[in-house]
Amino acid sequence: MLNLFYNSITEVLMTDDDILIKLKKLRDIVKLNLQDDNFRLNCVESVIDTLDDWTNPEKDWNSPAIFYHEKLKYSVRIIFWPAFIDNNPHEHKTWSVTGVLHNQLDINTYEMLENPKRLKKLRTISAKTGEVGYLAPGCIHNVCNTSHELSASLHIFNNISSIDKPEENAIWYPSPRKHNLINGSAERALLSCLSIASLIRNQKSLGLIERIYSHLPLSLKLNAVSSMYLFDPSYARHRFDQWEGLLYDNYSPF
Ligand SMILES: [Fe+2]
Repeated sequence: MLNLFYNSITEVLMTDDDILIKLKKLRDIVKLNLQDDNFRLNCVESVIDTLDDWTNPEKDWNSPAIFYHEKLKYSVRIIFWPAFIDNNPHEHKTWSVTGVLHNQLDINTYEMLENPKRLKKLRTISAKTGEVGYLAPGCIHNVCNTSHELSASLHIFNNISSIDKPEENAIWYPSPRKHNLINGSAERALLSCLSIASLIRNQKSLGLIERIYSHLPLSLKLNAVSSMYLFDPSYARHRFDQWEGLLYDNYSPF
């Protein structure tokens, strides 16, 4: 599915090039792939696969890596951003590459001032779907979705420790705004994937929307039914009738 993409990342990382050259090559690979509708649908499919595979009852699904290269210790991850949300400023201990998979994102960079110790914003880079950048170690930054729509980003992260301990790969700084981005992360991912599949509208899209429908909670299934109408109104009607039956079963007063 995304094997060619992963192979091209591996190939670049196996070269003897300077890290900056490698990062520029990885940026170009991500940029080229993000222009391809099939690539973006394959990303959606990989995210839904992780939802299918999620069996940990103690931990909520939180955008796990869609790929991890054990030997080179890099992971590929897709993260979904609610509207008007930014994460805490942080600094990866190693390199990363980030592209916008859906909608738009701002990346703010900061410098740490001494006496008193505080962060000062240096610049804001606004990026829309298809735009890609890389971060060398030591760059303090945060990600912000300033729009009223969900956004999605695709990342190649270098993992310096275990894939299961992502917190060890970055230093996080406090922020007065506290958001728990884990809450509702699966629903947010599904609704973002739904937007991507609805916008692309090729043969694969309807199958993905069907899988999204099955994962969505009852209250959100209608979003998927609306998207189905774009592809096949009679199929959408069938799903709507089914949804109405589920609604009746769940909310009937007697
Ligand atoms: Fe980051």
